[in-house]
Amino acid sequence: MARIAYVNGRYVDHALASVHIEDRGYQFSDGIYEYIAFYNGKLLDADAHFKRLERSLNELEIGLPVAPAALGIIIRELIERNAREDGGLYIQVTRGVAKRDHVFPKNVRPALVMTICGAKTPKPNEFADGVKVITAPDRRWGRRDIKSVSLLANIMAKQEAARQKVREALLVREDGTINEGSASNAFIVSKAGTLLTHPLDENILGGITRDVVLKLARKAGISAEEKAFSISDAKNAAEAFITSTSINVLPVVKIDDKLVGGGKVGEVTKKLGELYNAHILKQTGKVI
Ligand code: PDD
Repeated sequence: MARIAYVNGRYVDHALASVHIEDRGYQFSDGIYEYIAFYNGKLLDADAHFKRLERSLNELEIGLPVAPAALGIIIRELIERNAREDGGLYIQVTRGVAKRDHVFPKNVRPALVMTICGAKTPKPNEFADGVKVITAPDRRWGRRDIKSVSLLANIMAKQEAARQKVREALLVREDGTINEGSASNAFIVSKAGTLLTHPLDENILGGITRDVVLKLARKAGISAEEKAFSISDAKNAAEAFITSTSINVLPVVKIDDKLVGGGKVGEVTKKLGELYNAHILKQTGKVI
């Protein structure tokens, strides 16, 4: 199957797609990205992702090189050219190509690259049995709310998780507060049955899945609070799970060397996983 990328106005063979060595994304990680899942060719929660894309760009004073309406048309064309029903779309916008200088260049067109990949959904047994995670220091910069391409601290933490053969690393502040995962948001269910996740601020990325899960929980009558929790709260919680566009609602049954919920996937997590799958079905017709 042909794999096609979109690079600054052209649809090109993925294997040959390239950007200039002076692209500021390459030189300074001066850019942002989005990852949107699609099922049956339909983008999931597209409006929310586009809104976050716009916000990330605004925060860094980078423009979108094409009109928002044109972006939608290009994406449809790209998905069609890749002939893939289910998968993921990466949209990456950098400040563009300019002579190397920290100061923003003037009159430079931002660069837009989009690629399509296969769905990254976890294996069925990971949903059924839950996964293990570790905790790791959060060494990222202070604007974690911007979906920046600068992911060095995220990948270092994820690499440590991989080294320890676990699914994710939960990133922890110096005071012991858990911010989120290296590529996911973190939730716990307290022993009193309250769903907790870190509030929206500069410490976390405002995950689209996080937002959907909070809404689904409240609609289902599950009490939910956007309130920070510590490592010890998480280890002593009744349930824990992580969310993202690629992992949906993924149960966590072990944090470091402590079993959570006796090592079994909890009922609230199961319920939210089902509600999230129903959300995907309703928007895209895809049965997960
Ligand atoms: N990452 N927090 C971080 C640091 C993330 O990288 C992600 C997602 C999330 C969850 O956001 P959302 O629910 O909108 O996917 C939270 C994506 C999957 C990625 O980098 O590919």
